[in-house]
Amino acid sequence: MRKNILLFITCCFILIISSCKYEKIDGCDTASVKYGSTIKPILQNSCYSCHGQSQFLSNGAGYNLEAYDSLKQFIADGRFLKSIKWSDPDNVSTMPKGGTKIADCDISKIEKWINDGYPEN
Ligand code: HEC
Repeated sequence: MRKNILLFITCCFILIISSCKYEKIDGCDTASVKYGSTIKPILQNSCYSCHGQSQFLSNGAGYNLEAYDSLKQFIADGRFLKSIKWSDPDNVSTMPKGGTKIADCDISKIEKWINDGYPEN
């Protein structure tokens, strides 16, 4: 009887620990991704220093990614996603230029938003 209780407790422990691990690995919340509150802050951190409203002419090769209408075109032609995923380096430069790739979770959020039709919400 005591053995059964021990076994039960051990199983509970394993379950709890593995569920914690699962949360950490898969803890990227893409459920409520919005342009204003999710996407813009990511771009602000990694891209606006070159592609922002007042920097794109001098640093960002004339590509304005802070203006939604302009950003939309880079999404539509596929260059935006390829640039952040570093998936086609022969044809599309890896971004942020000279920097490290943005976090996987941020890329997942951006992909979710794009798959949703990239609304200006
Ligand atoms: C240090 C400045 C700098 C930063 C930061 C930067 N870019 Fe760029 N980006 C450039 C320059 C310069 C070009 C044009 C020259 C080139 O392709 O290397 C460019 C080109 C691009 C292009 C066109 C690529 C192509 O090959 O057609 C895209 C899309 C782009 N950037 C997106 C981004 C995104 C998204 C971020 C943020 C994750 C970002 N950039 C961060 C400077 C920057």
